[in-house]
Amino acid sequence: MELFIDTADIQQIREVNDMGIIDGVTTNPTLVAKSGRKFKDVLLEICDLVSGPVSAEVVSTDCDGMMKEAVEYAGLRPNVIVKIPLTPEGIKATNQCTKQDIKTNVTLCFSPTQALLAAKAGATYVSPFVGRIDDHSGDGMEVVADIVSIYERYGYKTKVLAASIRHPLHVLEALRLGAHVATCPYKVLMQLAHHPLTDIGLAKFLEDWKSVSP
Ligand code: G3P
Repeated sequence: MELFIDTADIQQIREVNDMGIIDGVTTNPTLVAKSGRKFKDVLLEICDLVSGPVSAEVVSTDCDGMMKEAVEYAGLRPNVIVKIPLTPEGIKATNQCTKQDIKTNVTLCFSPTQALLAAKAGATYVSPFVGRIDDHSGDGMEVVADIVSIYERYGYKTKVLAASIRHPLHVLEALRLGAHVATCPYKVLMQLAHHPLTDIGLAKFLEDWKSVSP
């Protein structure tokens, strides 16, 4: 499974990139707003830092507007993936992107039948929002499981990108279910790297070493 970082914070991307653990980056308008910087500047900096796919989201709500943004973003760097919301207009734009060889990440997906439409339109990725489904008493991981098995059964090539990941158990479940990608906030990636028993074990090793070291 590929691991993406879900952030527009350059420092965070640099840090996990140096660890060699991420395969790509996803951003969304909220994350870019948090960075307090101009979208295109941030996008270019991320694309030059990371060789894997970088999702950049359109903010138009009609197909023509989305396509204008899609063509512009895709022309900026070869690793840009255009992120498009899963609306009827978004599906139309996804279909046009597919025809123009522009890679897409269809976002804000909350059901397997929405994911069917993304696959039919030729999306490169579909992003079910696991945490937000859980927030509303749904089972986000069940949605991921359904999409993975439906895509496999019918041979759709769209990759399942588990998004809105909130904690390490979401990552474990995504691995078990065969999701192609999980995109995680920096905090979750760091949680994956830490275990209290590792810290306790290391402290003990270092303490014991003091008794034999000169
Ligand atoms: O990639 C989508 C993700 O950013 C949404 O996460 O935690 O805002 O639901 P969250």
